[in-house]
Amino acid sequence: MTARHLLADDDLTAAEQSQVLDLAAVLKAERHAEQPLAGPQAVAIIFDKPTLRTQLSFATGVAELGGYPMSVDGNLAQIGSRESIPDVARVIGRQVSAIVWRTHGQARIEEMAAHVDVPVVNALTDDYHPCQLLADLLTIREHKGATAGRTLAYLGDGANNMAHSYLLACTLAGMHVRIGTPASHRPTADVLARAERIAAEQGGSVLVTDDPATAAAGADVVATDTWVSMGMEEEQGGRTGATSPFAPFAVTRELLTHAAADASVLHCLPAYRGVEIEAEVIDGPQSVVWDEAENRLHAQKALLTFLLRASS
Ligand code: NVA
Repeated sequence: MTARHLLADDDLTAAEQSQVLDLAAVLKAERHAEQPLAGPQAVAIIFDKPTLRTQLSFATGVAELGGYPMSVDGNLAQIGSRESIPDVARVIGRQVSAIVWRTHGQARIEEMAAHVDVPVVNALTDDYHPCQLLADLLTIREHKGATAGRTLAYLGDGANNMAHSYLLACTLAGMHVRIGTPASHRPTADVLARAERIAAEQGGSVLVTDDPATAAAGADVVATDTWVSMGMEEEQGGRTGATSPFAPFAVTRELLTHAAADASVLHCLPAYRGVEIEAEVIDGPQSVVWDEAENRLHAQKALLTFLLRASS
């Protein structure tokens, strides 16, 4: 069997991404419409970093797909230090039907995927958060009618996993993506090049700017994320203090005046009110973050269904 994985957003083609989002909408309307894990078959859900939404939505989702969610504490398993990633992969891969992993470096999940013949899903690495993007795109479809031709502005840390995933997943969905970030925190050249190539194919575009108003101008969707990603806790002071390079990129009511009047606001959570987003914005009428959080469940169920079918 050749397994299909989702390690980065662009592991799906544009057509496949659209197919997953279509199925997510079906599963949102009828939660038990698909049972690809009937048996129940187990899915290993492994966390090397903190979690709330991801653990909740994958555990609930696997159960609703007829399967058994096997939670694995990465601190106990110590994958890559207590035993090698290939050895862990060979053990887990013989017992479960899919592996969901939140970990640090992208190379870790790539090594896992190289040594199993079941789907591996990236539940967040330092580089990408593709499951979150499927939920975000479903939310954009719901609130903006479609993704193609719409403009998303992401403001904050342009070098983190969310910025990279917005670039890749939104261009795949035919969107115009603007990243508003300090010059010191631009997306990696590799991700930018991939996003530009996808945008050229799908009719979208990519802009990286250090001017927050230019990023937000006329945007249909405004998105942000914490300025201190998991694993960066030691940099907390420099990232959020008085001299934070991200301060001009906070999503405030003033910033929203540059976006479309009916712009929707996304935040993958956890959110820090008064830091990267104003309380009046995340708790205000343009915020769709609770739909976005719920849509993790529906999008991930659709993704697992797609990957299991595509792998068999
Ligand atoms: N960039 C954030 C996303 C949290 C869902 C982090 O990696 O912590």
